[in-house]
Amino acid sequence: MTDQRKAPARRRFLKFAAMVPASLGLSVSWAKAQEAMIPTSDDMEGPYYISNTPVVRNLNRFGKPGEVMRIAGQVMNAADPDVPVAGARLELWQTDGRGRYHPQESGDYSDFRDDQIDLRGTVIADSQGRFDVLSVFPAEYWPRPPHIHYWIRADGFRPLVTQHYLDTGPGTRPHRTARVLRDQRPALYPAPTFYIEPV
Ligand SMILES: [Fe+2]
Repeated sequence: MTDQRKAPARRRFLKFAAMVPASLGLSVSWAKAQEAMIPTSDDMEGPYYISNTPVVRNLNRFGKPGEVMRIAGQVMNAADPDVPVAGARLELWQTDGRGRYHPQESGDYSDFRDDQIDLRGTVIADSQGRFDVLSVFPAEYWPRPPHIHYWIRADGFRPLVTQHYLDTGPGTRPHRTARVLRDQRPALYPAPTFYIEPV
């Protein structure tokens, strides 16, 4: 194949250690165990996506049960992995600490009362592609390990729907899995970096 951009070999793996922001204070031994896939692989949307959720700083808008947790990560350009995607728009949705989505339905924000929409929201990345949002640890629900869903969009980039996994369990993807750092207050989920593809 002459067009390397379309070749399977384009999927590259980098040691996550090189990509972890020093500000997160992660140990090298832990980071070395992680890998990043470039571009980030997609994953199933699942049955409970709701479009046009409001922009939030805390996904837990109405105090659902669960261990409080910060999610902090970054969106980068897969064609140039050192370059952040400023202003990327991330839609997140996840379960509460008891394994329930709010609501357990799909649709559009306008289909529901505002107080039915919880543990979902839109987050806008800053000029460095970084995002930081409060939430709770999502409980697993059979047969899935704990995970967070994402739709990521940015002008000039292909939309990405994917999932991140928390702690390692069966069915997770190593390059999209990280441990919650419970020695921080609040606990921190250092989301594996997203690498999205230019159109
Ligand atoms: Fe899910």
